[in-house]
Amino acid sequence: MTHFKVAVLISGNGSNLQAIIDEFKESSHIKICCVISNKEDAYGLERAAKVNIDRYFLDHTKFCTRKDFETGLTDILEKYNPDLIVLAGFMRILSEFFVEKYKGKLINIHPSLLPKHKGLNTHQKVIEEGDEFHGVTVHFVDNTLDGGPICAQASFKVETKDVKVLENEVHKIEHELYPKVIKDIAAGKINIIN
Ligand code: GRF
Repeated sequence: MTHFKVAVLISGNGSNLQAIIDEFKESSHIKICCVISNKEDAYGLERAAKVNIDRYFLDHTKFCTRKDFETGLTDILEKYNPDLIVLAGFMRILSEFFVEKYKGKLINIHPSLLPKHKGLNTHQKVIEEGDEFHGVTVHFVDNTLDGGPICAQASFKVETKDVKVLENEVHKIEHELYPKVIKDIAAGKINIIN
């Protein structure tokens, strides 16, 4: 059976990466082919190292333009020819160059019920606006901020005013939803039609 190859891009802790590693470690179909971080001290790189996944640090500050950095990314990705590129806490905006190249193969997880609360500090915004529900969204990536066709969402009722508590709840459902969506994409159950 040919593998469905998943590349994961991170910038930090990588708890979503861990959930994906755990979910697919026994899979004969879905394989994480590489992990790329734009931060050298991203804990996610250690998570990848522990299970021997190829990993790369690509310092965006060393490139003159966004496109140069993204060309660096594609140079790495082309070695693996991934079926899917998963953004998991990757804190760089990707330009049209990259997004167009990997159209339909690039997904992101965002900690809100999009289109509500694009950008940062989503938990704070949920509390400030007194939202009844909060949740997460997995979406294909286009070149707008947190935009692109939605693959799946999961929500829960907001019962706290504590940002940290809310963040933990969100993480819990992220770790369930993201691997599920990857599985559905690999199985051809989710794709972009046009
Ligand atoms: C997650 O909350 C994700 O939704 C957002 O960045 C966070 C990454 O967390 N895009 P982690 O690095 O996977 O722990």
